[in-house]
Amino acid sequence: MSALPTRVGVIGGGRMGVGIAHAFLVAGSGVVVVERDAQAAVVAGERLEQNLLRSVERGSLDNFDVALERAQVSSSIEDLAGCELVIEAVPEDLGLKVEMLTAAEQIVDPAAALATNTSSLSIDALAEGLTRPERFIGLHFFNPVPASALIEIVVGARTDPSLVEDAEAWTAGIGKTPVVVSDSPGFASSRLGVFLALEAMRMLEEGVASAQDIDAAMELGYRHPSGPLRTTDLVGLDVRLHIAEYLAAELGERFTPPQILRDKVAAGELGRKTGRGFYDW
Ligand SMILES: NC(=O)c1ccc[n+]([C@@H]2O[C@H](COP(=O)([O-])OP(=O)(O)OC[C@H]3O[C@@H](n4cnc5c(N)ncnc54)[C@H](O)[C@@H]3O)[C@@H](O)[C@H]2O)c1
Repeated sequence: MSALPTRVGVIGGGRMGVGIAHAFLVAGSGVVVVERDAQAAVVAGERLEQNLLRSVERGSLDNFDVALERAQVSSSIEDLAGCELVIEAVPEDLGLKVEMLTAAEQIVDPAAALATNTSSLSIDALAEGLTRPERFIGLHFFNPVPASALIEIVVGARTDPSLVEDAEAWTAGIGKTPVVVSDSPGFASSRLGVFLALEAMRMLEEGVASAQDIDAAMELGYRHPSGPLRTTDLVGLDVRLHIAEYLAAELGERFTPPQILRDKVAAGELGRKTGRGFYDW
């Protein structure tokens, strides 16, 4: 398998889908983005063009026209035919994802790989409806895709080891670093990131230190680019509460959300997007 698939399909042209399409286009693959209807396809196409233009401005893409020629945006899932790799990036809804993955599986070649960009759902649960679960894997991209260096490769119980190798090669081919994780709640990134943030919140509740000082301890002491509370403000307190509740249900009490997180979410203090979280923005 070459370092890049010749043709990549992306289902869902939202924030992540367009970012993923952009990453493969800039690296040299052909890409088709499939949206739910013609209107959504137009919006996704415009977003993709803007992303490519920004790459030209930043100097990471030489020829805008050539990259755009390799891109197709469609509202027909049939256009996934001929893709070596299809990545679904529709909203985080198990039923919708299963529906899109099973539909894609019937269109692509049996040797093609299917992937999901889910940030929390179980790879094995998503594989339930597939006839070829060995060709299915998690490729967890991070937002914003162009700026992020990491892809979590999430390996299901039935994923073929050769597909893990292909996924590592593709990840490197688009200039990102892979980490390989077994299918488990929160994978590696959310599980560790949320755990650190919850402890930081408990420290704030207990009056151990201010939000600024807790973050500075990690930023300056451990070289984290952004402390756990600032990161929570950027991600959204509601998003983190949701993940913490899920991880508490799956992994136990150590993920129980602190009261300060519940109170802030109830008060509408969701972080940067609402102007206030652990910081004023
Ligand atoms: N936003 C993040 O920070 C982030 C990070 C990592 C992973 N993820 C995951 O990526 C996935 C997508 O997230 P997003 O933030 O891009 O969401 P989004 O809402 O921006 O995009 C989802 C897109 O899917 C499209 N869609 C809905 N139904 C469809 C269908 N039947 N066929 C084709 N397209 C359809 C929507 O029109 C929309 O454009 C989710 O699973 C999310 O958990 C998100």
